[in-house]
Amino acid sequence: MSAGRRPLVAGNWKMHKTPGEAREFCTALAALVGSEPSVDVAVCPPYTALAAAADALAGTSIAVYAQNIHEAASGAHTGDISAPMLLDVGVQGTLVGHSERRAAGDTDDQVALRVRAGIDAGLLVVLCCGESLDTRRAGDTERWVTRQVQSALADVHAADIDRLVIAYEPIWAIGTGETATPAQAQDACATVRAVAAERVDAAALRVLYGGSVNPGNAAELMSQADVDGALVGGASLDPESFAQIVEAAA
Ligand code: PGA
Repeated sequence: MSAGRRPLVAGNWKMHKTPGEAREFCTALAALVGSEPSVDVAVCPPYTALAAAADALAGTSIAVYAQNIHEAASGAHTGDISAPMLLDVGVQGTLVGHSERRAAGDTDDQVALRVRAGIDAGLLVVLCCGESLDTRRAGDTERWVTRQVQSALADVHAADIDRLVIAYEPIWAIGTGETATPAQAQDACATVRAVAAERVDAAALRVLYGGSVNPGNAAELMSQADVDGALVGGASLDPESFAQIVEAAA
């Protein structure tokens, strides 16, 4: 973790929590994290709980991000949500290209368009990338991550740096309890940074690790030179364990 890059810890709730549960969680988290954390903290509730989370966190330093956006601002896109809609309910950022969204059909082209649309709308975009177990076993991780990042950043420019974060999340580590080793996380995050350098000032870019991060492994993962925080799934659903990971980043 570099002193120049403020760490970010984001909790990806996936398809968990109702608005009522989100409110309860956010109130508890805000009390645990305190008013002036030395790291950026965000939660990513499902769409139906975004407004409740934003309301419960108003006046705190904890941000609310969505889990995905559509690339258009409005239109005939049944089931989708746009960046301007999210901004209107107090959302400040969004994940784009999570592997669970890619598995559900989001394409590389859509991911690139959504990165651009999110930044243009004024959201912080957390672009997700990461390889499957087969790709890792084939020794193809670096090539895979390079291609994903190059494709997603095709229309990103130097001026976008403040609205871009990249999360490296190996698919084999997501929700499996099998975490990348600190060295594996460092190597892949360094690759992400090097590739992003083709587009932005990568020394200023925050790169996160995600995949079975928990209070026991967070500090070591985030102490790696190119790891500037964490994208946390399962361990972000409980305010105490999520707050411990925030603490580990501080
Ligand atoms: P996990 O999920 O922490 O439960 O592995 C991470 C993610 O999918 O963002």
